[in-house]
Amino acid sequence: MAADPEVLNRRAVLAAYATETAACLRCRLASGRTQVVFGVGNPDADLLFVGEAPGFHEDQQGYPFVGQAGKLLDKLLEGIGLTREDVYIANVIKCRPPGNRDPQPDEIEACEAHLFRQIELIEPKLIATLGNFATKLLSGKPHGITRVHGRQQETTLGGRSVTLYPLYHPAAALYTPAMLRTLEDDFRRIPELLAEETGVPAQVIQFPTAVPQAPLSAAEQLGLF
Ligand code: URA
Repeated sequence: MAADPEVLNRRAVLAAYATETAACLRCRLASGRTQVVFGVGNPDADLLFVGEAPGFHEDQQGYPFVGQAGKLLDKLLEGIGLTREDVYIANVIKCRPPGNRDPQPDEIEACEAHLFRQIELIEPKLIATLGNFATKLLSGKPHGITRVHGRQQETTLGGRSVTLYPLYHPAAALYTPAMLRTLEDDFRRIPELLAEETGVPAQVIQFPTAVPQAPLSAAEQLGLF
């Protein structure tokens, strides 16, 4: 079957935008980075994850979520029958803040156009915001993640209506077992939300996995507890 020209064009435009962003000098973080961490995954994904900022490993390798938090994200995805190839993963900030400090408001302001352009091009139906920074930026509201996690909300981004689904950040959940359980519970609702957005039944999206009856938590499977 011939490739859909719209899909080919989306991929080409996103790739060109990544190339352009690789030389970004919009804020002070450009001087300390190894490279810009643009994003990774399927440009046609219905589901976009948005984290905070690259850490040490992401800065070294050029991909988001490749450290311990990324391993947890992979496990959580696996638990709902998805892989990185099914989704797109990006961050609010594309360059590593020194010492992994919090992004500063002016850095977010300088960088946000990159994320908004990604959203415009990928056209996800569901955006899972990981942690406070992504949730506050994309919801446009000051409410913290403790209050809003697991509660989907409708918003308009890139001129399109989209569902935001705030989740705890995997890095925070790594060291707080109660938060991890909550993140796992919230994650389990993703297939149902995706089904609502795409019209594809949840059982088609949620492939059976080899998770045993009483599964170890994702962090336990990683040997973190
Ligand atoms: N944490 C994030 O928010 N993003 C990454 O890419 C890695 C860790």
